[in-house]
Formats: sequence, structure tokens, C-alpha cells
Amino acid sequence: LKIWAIADLHLSFTTPNKGMEKFGTKWLQHYDIIKKHWIESIAEDDLVLIAGDISWAMRVSEAKADLDWIGELPGTKVLIRGNHDFWWESLKKIKTVLPESMHLIQNNAFHWNDISVGGARLWDSDEYSFSEFIDFSGPLNEVDQDKESQQKIFDRELIRLENSLKQLDPKAKSRIVMTHYPPIANSLAPSRAASLLEKYGVDICVFGHLHNIRKGLTLFGEKKRGVTYHLTACDYLDFKPIQIG
Ligand SMILES: [Fe+2]
Ligand SMILES: [Fe+2]
Repeated sequence: LKIWAIADLHLSFTTPNKGMEKFGTKWLQHYDIIKKHWIESIAEDDLVLIAGDISWAMRVSEAKADLDWIGELPGTKVLIRGNHDFWWESLKKIKTVLPESMHLIQNNAFHWNDISVGGARLWDSDEYSFSEFIDFSGPLNEVDQDKESQQKIFDRELIRLENSLKQLDPKAKSRIVMTHYPPIANSLAPSRAASLLEKYGVDICVFGHLHNIRKGLTLFGEKKRGVTYHLTACDYLDFKPIQIG
């Protein structure tokens, strides 16, 4: 039983005008590359963590084709919402179309064998920034918000994160958290979100959201104050899921 992660799939099977190739040729039919690597490495009894930005769809009915595409791949999948997941309406509504092998985290936790998984989307934080590692911004990374509303959303997300953390099984062999936005700076200096992860004994945190990270940099994959951090945005991983456990 292995644990894998890959985030920011940005699928668009029912919204082809949202194809990712406009963000660079590396994104050309990126879903086929993901699928190839996924099938090669992931087994039916493995767990796959998808930390948000799953589909470009605007409603659940449109997202169904994207969810079905993920659902047919091997493994049990756990998802959280990213900032581009506008289709993510209520859990109740999503569950009407959600394939059996997929599970959602929102103010709750998911238990799989002796592993407990929690998570929350988070948001841009004024505590840290990654702009120095990103070659160009554009619509995937853009921030267009005043500091005060950004702060408000971030504060609310921390409450959601803690709601989820409270439901992690303290006896689990491994406690894993997914956030869409990074919960910590690249320096791994203390942050509010990281303090929560430490307080609840989280072992591993995977996140996504950061696209177009400059090549050749070693970001994350390191353990700090008990938590190992992994950036899992699919373009950062060259569209190949990484094994985290
Ligand atoms: Fe993304
Ligand atoms: Fe994102």
C-alpha cells in the first residue's frame, strides 16, 4: 500500500476552451502524460492525494467527465478544493456524481487503513511569497486582491484547517494534510498554518497551486519541526505522481 500525490490536474474535458496549452507547450495534452505515469506506477490498493485545482468546470454537472476520468484510474483518491474549482458546490451535490473510488475533504478527515488525511484550501498569505521562484505569473498564479480581504479569507481557511485537523485520528500511523496553497515559506520558517500542522502532529503536508516554478530549484521535500512538505503541482512534478509514503 503506497501513498502518492499529484495536484493541479486542471482538467477540461467538458470545457475544451479552458485547455492548458495556452500556458505553454508542456501542457499539451498533459492529462495523457499524467495518465501514462499514473497507470505505470499506481496500484488499485494505493492512495492518491489530489490537493486542488482539479477541473476548470463551473458546475458539478460539467465536472462529471473530469471526475470520471480520475475515477477510472487505479487507487483510492482523496481531493480538496483549489482556488479554480468553481464547480465545487456542496459536498452533497458532488457526491451525486462522484465515482466510488474518490473522496472529498472539507472540514472533515478521511481514514484509510492506518492513515488519516485532513486538509483545507488555504489562500495567499502575507507571511510568505514564492514570486522569486516563478518565471512568469499570469492567470494561474495571479493575485488581484487587497491585503485586507486576502487576510480575511486566510483567517477563515485556518479555522477550516483546524476543524479538519481535529478530526485526524491521533492513533493513526501517519497523519497527512493536503492544502492547496503552500502552508509555509520555502525557507520553512514558522508560519501560522505550519504551527497548526505541528500542533496536531501532522507527519506529511502536500500542496499545489504554485505553477511555472523555475527549473533546477530544490523546493521542499524536507522535514521541519516534524512535518515533511511536498510541492505536488503537476507541472512541478513533470506530470508524474510522486510517492510520499
Ligand atoms: Fe493550479
Ligand atoms: Fe491554484
